[in-house]
Amino acid sequence: MKGLILAGGAGTGLRPLTHTGPKQLIPIANKPNILYCLEDVRDAGITEIGVILGENMPEKVEELLGDGSSYGVKITYIVQGAPRGIAHAVGCAREFVGNDPFVVYLGDNLLRGGIREMAEEFLEGDAEAQVALCKVPNPQRFGVAELDEDGNIVSLVEKPKEPKSDLALVGIYFFQESVFPIIDELKPSWRNELEITEAIDNLRTAGNLVKAHVVSGWWKDTGRPEDILEANQLILQDLETSIEGDVAEDVETRGNVSIGKGSKILPGSVIKGPVVVGENCEIGPKTYVGPYTSIGDNTRLVGGEIEDTIVVGDCVIDCGRRIVHSLIGRHSSILSSEGGKPAGHRLILGENSSVMI
Ligand code: TTP
Repeated sequence: MKGLILAGGAGTGLRPLTHTGPKQLIPIANKPNILYCLEDVRDAGITEIGVILGENMPEKVEELLGDGSSYGVKITYIVQGAPRGIAHAVGCAREFVGNDPFVVYLGDNLLRGGIREMAEEFLEGDAEAQVALCKVPNPQRFGVAELDEDGNIVSLVEKPKEPKSDLALVGIYFFQESVFPIIDELKPSWRNELEITEAIDNLRTAGNLVKAHVVSGWWKDTGRPEDILEANQLILQDLETSIEGDVAEDVETRGNVSIGKGSKILPGSVIKGPVVVGENCEIGPKTYVGPYTSIGDNTRLVGGEIEDTIVVGDCVIDCGRRIVHSLIGRHSSILSSEGGKPAGHRLILGENSSVMI
């Protein structure tokens, strides 16, 4: 079996973070999202992996993954360019896939429990396609499957206004080469994309066996800022304590905390896990870092409080305030303005930034 990881798309839902790179590289608990996908594919025993590149700084994906050897896999890059849909991206991989069965994994999805079991099920069965489904509270946002009493798929609709079930299509699909002629026949949808949901539904209505696998663990599609923060919480729930940096004697740490090499936690600080701090950070003195916070490498936090937040890295936060539920991109600084009454807020924000004061 081969693997296909999608790293294209426009990523508009995550601007401004996607102004400086693809969304699949946004770190969740200090690790780029796409690496979780790559590990899931590799841990299912798949080592030949195609990575689909879009037009938003694809070189950053190549820089991270290289030829795959540091992750124990062999990577082939496939250029899709403009985001013409997931089915279009899959169609671009026809030569790479050849006659092998393959799994498609959207590079901005996260799944607890990996895909090994699903991959085995697909290889052992005789289905032409297999989709992963997950119960969600808001099916209107996703591709939705309707199943009959035997668990077979009866209909598949992309972002239905009136969903027939609460089973969303997880961004993980298994196919045989039979999907390619079906993709060739697709016409762009109302949003001008070749829809994978339509390809799967057409496979089914042409008389092919399409199986469903309802996942038991959590699944997250990290297309919007709130999803990224939720994914961060879900990953940090399983964090293990690991202290490689220096923690001053009177620092109070609670719960699971991971402090990377070269990082210093200065006196009087409180770190209440789960919290991950990358390498070469300096936190404190007298700084509070609360649960579900991920601090990327080379960041300095001085005073104040921070909680349920992702700081991507190379940041300085020295404002004496409490920062919550925030996503702070690389090379950002949050400093206090000097004196004066009433206190002013000085902001230098990129396009699509959002600030709640
Ligand atoms: P989406 O989140 O549907 O697309 P997008 O990245 O264009 O998002 P937005 O609406 O915020 O602009 O894509 C799902 C996944 O598939 C994501 O990992 C990107 C990837 N993708 C491609 O690789 N090629 C494509 O043509 C599209 C549409 C998505």
